[in-house]
Formats: sequence, structure tokens, C-alpha cells
Amino acid sequence: MAKDGEKQFIYIVQASLEPSKCKIGKTNDLERRLKEYNSMTGKSKENIYQYLFACEVKDMTRVENAIKEQFTTLREEKSREIYFYNTPLFDEYVNFIKSHKMYAREIIIRTEEKKEVVKIVKRITPSLEERGVSRKEILQKAQRIENDEFYTRYEDIEKELSMYNKRIWKNKVVFCNCDDAVDDNEKNTSAFSLFFIKNFNKLGLKKLICTHYSGTVDLFNQGVNGYIFTKDGFNELKEHPKGYTGSFDHPLSLKILNEEADIVCTNPPFSRAIDYWRITISSGKKFIIISNITNPITPAFIPYFKKNKVWAGYNRIDYFLNPKKQLVDAAGHWYTNIPIKDRTKSKNLKIIPLKHIPEKYKKYDDSGMLIVDNCYIPDDYEKSFAVSARPILNGLLEKGYKIIQGTQYFPYEDGKKCFGRVLVQKI
Ligand SMILES: C[S@@+](CC[C@H](N)C(=O)[O-])C[C@H]1O[C@@H](n2cnc3c(N)ncnc32)[C@H](O)[C@@H]1O
Repeated sequence: MAKDGEKQFIYIVQASLEPSKCKIGKTNDLERRLKEYNSMTGKSKENIYQYLFACEVKDMTRVENAIKEQFTTLREEKSREIYFYNTPLFDEYVNFIKSHKMYAREIIIRTEEKKEVVKIVKRITPSLEERGVSRKEILQKAQRIENDEFYTRYEDIEKELSMYNKRIWKNKVVFCNCDDAVDDNEKNTSAFSLFFIKNFNKLGLKKLICTHYSGTVDLFNQGVNGYIFTKDGFNELKEHPKGYTGSFDHPLSLKILNEEADIVCTNPPFSRAIDYWRITISSGKKFIIISNITNPITPAFIPYFKKNKVWAGYNRIDYFLNPKKQLVDAAGHWYTNIPIKDRTKSKNLKIIPLKHIPEKYKKYDDSGMLIVDNCYIPDDYEKSFAVSARPILNGLLEKGYKIIQGTQYFPYEDGKKCFGRVLVQKI
């Protein structure tokens, strides 16, 4: 209880060796409180507490209680003052405190080190056209050279996930299994983790589990490869075997997938897409994930589309962020096994009698197979015909057509091999 005339403060403090946590509390004496933190018994000398933010308020108990109530999911389960920390969440805490009617004035805000300025530089490299490469080639190249460090933009996640009925999330356990919920030196928090943390209550989630890969040597994160959020608070994924890498195919990650998760949501590493799809689809769990736009015509994935184990989500992804936070061209698409209502893109399909399809968009290859382009689809053709990925992404398989061959089809025109397609037929 503050004595009359005594100043009241709310602060956010962080220990240098605990990057995933901060403490939010109240005090009448900022200096003394910081000394107390730094002289706590059992604290190592290297683990220095510093204020990230402090402000004067008119009623610190009211503000503190409001914070506890607002950020329940982000409080460490056992503790009243420990909160989950990453840079974007820090902004949320500060904004919340500053907008409280008991807020008086800012005293300290640490911006330079803690708050990384996320600068988005739009394409500093030559455009794809200038370089003569297609978006598709970019992701295929990433797959070949195992460059997985492309990050999904928050806005792309929001755009896609807002399309699904909110009821799908109610009381569900969401598993983001390629997603770091905490900042590290090179990159920022995964936008997937952030999206679900921020919308935890709105979506009515039961639990959010975020795991991330850090290879076999984990020098900086001291073995923490995952975080669990519930409505009662957050916890580190501590109960893991020695040497847990956080890999989506590690036995512990598979256990979470098979025994706990209801919905898996992430952008997995491109270089491991084939394994990721096999594991995720065979788990039988619901998923909303990002992958290459060409998957519907790529041999490893065609069988899943054929057997209706997966279909396109609503949107494509044209940009990712690289570790420097620059926009880079992408050729991604959302894929899911959750029903898609009112697929707006199906309007792009032009399903009409064969004779009305313009000549330039229909041809027969050397073996007499019909090939149609530009999303033209014959509605009176009984035999199979070849299409590109686009009609599949636009929902052709929901319009009374099926894939009839689990492999890629390569047309030959005048003996010349053309790009691969997939064979479909009217049901
Ligand atoms: C395309 S990035 C996307 C990252 C994040 N999910 C997002 O959407 O921004 C794929 C991430 O998976 C990580 N990764 C690589 N191998 C992995 C594995 N075996 N298990 C889990 N994640 C892995 C990479 O380090 C990379 O950060």
C-alpha cells in the first residue's frame, strides 16, 4: 500500500540471461527495487537485471491488476510477476500500460538494444524479371540449397486465418512446430507464434505449443526449444530428453503432434517439405500450412491431392521476409485439410464446353492428350486432360473433377518436353 505523497511506479525488468521472460511489477522506489533484483540469492553474477520500461502511475495496484488480467496467458504459470517476453509483446505491454487511465508519465524506455527496428526494405536486389527468374524457381532453389530461413509475414497469417470459421479454434490445442516464440540475435519472433499468442482468448484456444529447431548444439537458448501457453499462463517445454533439437520429426515433437495437437499451423522448412507433409498428413490432425505453389503438380505431393487428403487454402504468398527483415519474392500457397467455404478463387475457373475454349488455351500433345491453360476447363470432355497447378489451387477438385494419376504428366509437343502438369477428369 502506497503511503500518501509517495510516488508509484510500474516497471518491466529483464535479466540478461533470460531472454524469454520479463518481470512486470509495481514499486515506490525504482532504484531500490532494481538493487533487490540484482542481489537476489541464487542469481548468478552474469545475470544482470535491467529496466526495459518504467512509468509513474496514479494507482500502481490497479494498473498491476489490470496487467495480470489482460495478459493471463503470458504469465508464467507459477509466478505472479513473470511474463513471457519477445519484442512485439513488449510493445503490447507498454501500450497497454500507457493507455491505462492511471498512467501518468514515462520514466524509462529501453529502445536501442531491446527493441529492434524492423525495417522492411522492399526488394533491394534486382527484380525477378530483371534477373529472368520466376517466383516458382526461387522456392525450388531454396529447396535445393536448403535455405530455409524465410519468414512468414504477420499480415499473411492474419489474412488467411481470418477466412476460417472462428469455431474451428475453440478449445483446441494449436501446435506451431517450426516456430520460435522468442527473439534471437538474427531473427524475430515467428509471426505464427505471435498471431496465436495475441489471439489466444479471441479464438478460445485451449493450448498453444510452439517448438523450434536449433540443431544439435544449442548454445544460446540453454536447451529451451519450446513454449506452452494456456489460459493460466506459459511454461517452457522443459520436460524434454537431453539433446532435443526441436525438430518436427524428433520423437518428442511427434508425441506432441500425435497425442496433444488438434491443429498444426506453420510454414515448415522448404528443404524438408516432403517429410513434413508425410508426417503431418499421416498424423490425421488438422493443419493449415504454407508450402510451394507448385505442390499440386509436384510428384511427391500429387498423391495427397488425388486422395483428397489436402487442398489449397484461400491465399497465395507472394512475399516472405529474409533474416534481415527484407521482403523477398516468394511462390508459396496455403494448404489445409479444413473445409474451405466460399472459395472466392473458384471464380477464376472458366468451366465451359470445349468448343468455346479459345484455341490458344487448348491443344493436343504428341500423344493426343488434351492440354488446357489459363484456367479453362472443358465441361463436356469425358477423357482425361492435363492442367497446371492453378486450377487445382482455384478449387477444381471441388467442382466435380478428380486427379486420375498420382504422378506428374509431361506433355511432348513436336518431340519437345513441356513443363509438368497433372491429369484430371470429370467425375
Ligand atoms: C520457412 S522457415 C519459416 C519459419 C516460421 N515458421 C515462419 O513461418 O516464419 C522454416 C523454419 O524451419 C526451421 N527448421 C529447419 N529444420 C527444421 C526441423 N527439422 N524442424 C523444425 N524446424 C526446422 C528453419 O530454421 C526455419 O526457421
